Amino acid sequence: MEYGYPKGHVFYRKLARTYLLAARGEGIYLYDENGRRYIDGSGGAIVVNVGHGQREIFQTILEQAGRVGYIHGTQFTSKSVEEYGEALGEVLPGGLNKIYFLSGGSEAVEASIKFARQFYLESSRSQRWRIIARWHSYHGNTLGALSLTGRVGMRRPYLPLLVDFPHFPPPYCYRCPFSLTYPSCEIECAKALENVIQMEGPETISGVILEPILGATIGAVVPPDGYLPQIQEICGRYGIFLIDDEIMTGFGRTGKWFAVNHWDVVPDIMVLGKGMGGGYFPISAMVARGECVDLLKDKTGGFVHGHTYSHHPVACAVGLSVLRLIKENHLVERSEERGAYLLRRLEELKSFSFVGDVRGRGLMAAIEFVKNQETKEPFPRAERFTEKVMEMTFERGLILYSGTGFVDGINGDMVMFGPPFVIEESQIDEMIDILKGTFESLQMA
Ligand SMILES: Cc1ncc(COP(=O)(O)O)c(C=O)c1O
Repeated sequence: MEYGYPKGHVFYRKLARTYLLAARGEGIYLYDENGRRYIDGSGGAIVVNVGHGQREIFQTILEQAGRVGYIHGTQFTSKSVEEYGEALGEVLPGGLNKIYFLSGGSEAVEASIKFARQFYLESSRSQRWRIIARWHSYHGNTLGALSLTGRVGMRRPYLPLLVDFPHFPPPYCYRCPFSLTYPSCEIECAKALENVIQMEGPETISGVILEPILGATIGAVVPPDGYLPQIQEICGRYGIFLIDDEIMTGFGRTGKWFAVNHWDVVPDIMVLGKGMGGGYFPISAMVARGECVDLLKDKTGGFVHGHTYSHHPVACAVGLSVLRLIKENHLVERSEERGAYLLRRLEELKSFSFVGDVRGRGLMAAIEFVKNQETKEPFPRAERFTEKVMEMTFERGLILYSGTGFVDGINGDMVMFGPPFVIEESQIDEMIDILKGTFESLQMA
C-alpha cells in the first residue's frame, strides 16, 4: 500500500511524494512492507549510527518505560538522566560537562542562543545578545535556529519572522568565497569572522555558532587545518562564546567522538542531537562550562528556559545505551576506518563527468554534482539533478540524503552519505556498485 497526501489524515514534508511503509530495520538495512531491502546509506538524516534493530536498545526502552516513563524536569530527576550525564561527561571535551537534555537539535540550538544571552545579561553585559553564524550552515528550522541557519532557500519564505543575526562565509575550499587557494589563502575565511565582529560591534555579540564540518546544507565540507583554531582564537580575543554545533557530527560520525577533536578545539558551548539517540528516541542536549552555569545559579538561580519533554528518562536511557554500544563496539574507530574506505571508493566516481567534488571525514561524506567538471558550473535547478539521483538510487535500493541550492541560493546539487557505523567494507562496495549503475544510466540519458 502507498501513503502520502491526500490519502489518509497525515501530511508530510514532501506533499507530492508517495510513501512506502518501513516495516523493519536491521544493521544497515531497512525493509519495506513488501519485503524489499534498502541500504540506509544516510542513516536517515545522518542519524542512525549503531545500526537498526539493536535489541539492547529495544530492551532499554521497555525497561525504563516500565519503571518510570515520564517525570517533569522541575519535579524529579531519574537514574537514567544522572547516569547518562556521568557517562557523557567522560567523552565530552575538557571542561564542558554541564548538560541540559532536550528532545531535538533545533531545541538545543534555541537553548544555546538563550543560554548565551542569559549569561551575558547576568554578567552585566546586556548588550551582548547577537550570535554570528555562517552562510550555507544548518542549525535547524525553528525560528531562532532558522535565523542562524545559512540556507537561503529555507530562510526566504520566513524572512520577516527571523532575527537579523549576522553571517559570514564558510570554509568552502572547492568554491572559495574569496577565490583563493589553501594554504596561500592564509585562511582568509576565518579572518572574515573578525571583520564581521568589528562591523557589527563586538560589544553586541554573545557567540559564534558553527558546524565544525558543515553538513545538511552544503554536504560534508571539512575546513582546512588551522581554520577552527583560528576561529577559537578570535572568539577568545573578543570574549565571545564559541558554540559548536555537533548535532550531525557528534558521537563518532566523523571518526572522533566530536568533530572539534580533530583540531583539539574546546568550545564554550556544544549542541548535540541526531546520533545521540541512535534514531531510536528523540534526544538532544546543550552543554556548557560549569563556571557559566554557576553564574546563572548565583544570579537568578535558574536557566530561564524549559520544555515539557526535557530531561526525559526514557530518552536518557536510550542515550546511555547508544553511548555504551559505541564504546563497547569501538564504533568511533570503525567510523574513521570505514569512512576512509568509503571516501577512497567515492573518489573513483570522479570518472563521471558530473561528479565535481568528493569530500568528508569519517562516515560523513558527500558528492557535489556539477554540469562541468572543469569550470565547476552547477546544473540549472530546473534539471533537478539531485532529485533524479535520489529517485534512481532509491529505486535500486540505496537511500541517500540530499541538498540543493548552496552555490548561489538556487543552484547547487549534492548527496550525502552517513551509513550506520556497523557497515562492512563489502556493504560499502555494494553502495558503490549501485551508484556506478545509477551514474552510468544518467550519463547515457
Ligand atoms: C548541524 C545541525 N544542527 C541542527 C540541526 C537541527 O536538528 P533537528 O532537525 O533535530 O531540529 C541539524 C539537523 O539536520 C543539524 O544538522
